Amino acid sequence: MKRLDGKTALITGAARGIGKAFAQAYIREGARVAIGDIDLERASATTSELGDPAVAVEMDVTDQASIEEAVTNTLRKFGRIDILINNAALFTAAPITDIERSDFDTVFAVNVAGTLFTMQAVARHMIERGGGGKIINMASQAGRRGEPLVAVYCATKAAVISLTQSAGLNLIQHGINVNAISPGVVDGEHWDGVDAFFAKLEDKAPGQKKREVGAGVPYGRMATVDDLTGMAVFLASAEADYIVAQTYNVDGGQWMS
Ligand SMILES: NC(=O)c1ccc[n+]([C@@H]2O[C@H](COP(=O)([O-])OP(=O)(O)OC[C@H]3O[C@@H](n4cnc5c(N)ncnc54)[C@H](O)[C@@H]3O)[C@@H](O)[C@H]2O)c1
Repeated sequence: MKRLDGKTALITGAARGIGKAFAQAYIREGARVAIGDIDLERASATTSELGDPAVAVEMDVTDQASIEEAVTNTLRKFGRIDILINNAALFTAAPITDIERSDFDTVFAVNVAGTLFTMQAVARHMIERGGGGKIINMASQAGRRGEPLVAVYCATKAAVISLTQSAGLNLIQHGINVNAISPGVVDGEHWDGVDAFFAKLEDKAPGQKKREVGAGVPYGRMATVDDLTGMAVFLASAEADYIVAQTYNVDGGQWMS
């Protein structure tokens, strides 16, 4: 018996990176997974790679109609949603004096409003059908404390931790567990972009920031996406039924709480 046998999941931003690794891990554990992403082409390529248990669902988490359509499409394919991972996010960096309102609005729309309103849409479905469910939000070590050049992204991830606490407390009466994962620094396309930001802002050679942050992790290196999948499977499984409103650091020792 696999740990997620018969379960269905919707994972936002799963066309690549951490979300894709979560989808792979869930499928290995017996689940079917909807790959929700704004990049439908990439999501479709990912589902071809993952095979039959995966379906691509076009989804822009900043657009209410698109969230609702993605939930409806997932329900049409699978009949139910047992697990949601709010994983889609954008990164941005700038000194306080250079932050642009439009950038702030865009990143908050994806990372915070996207998380809240996708959570809401899926929670409504879970409440209506009964039987509970699992919701996992992607926070970050960036949400645990500020960073001099990363104010907006840090604030969005602090908001995700807070939303996880409030939603966790509100939804457990329906048997819906809401928890979050807080990674540290995870190598991949996201961090290629972060590295490029710092190359510009701190006048570093490409790849230098990655080497520096990797060396600074107590574990001794950046995470790979596979370092995170154990927690994602655990929080979606029945083993986590009594865990409510928590944010777990999976960061090689970067942050202790
Ligand atoms: N990579 C890291 O070091 C790291 C560290 C801490 C937390 N995280 C968090 O983990 C999660 C996944 O990170 P990742 O590294 O895989 O990111 P990524 O940038 O590689 O992937 C993000 C995905 O989200 C999709 N997306 C962007 N905007 C969207 C929208 N409006 N609607 C739907 N999909 C959208 C993108 O198309 C992409 O497929 C994010 O929440 C991120 O903040 C990542």
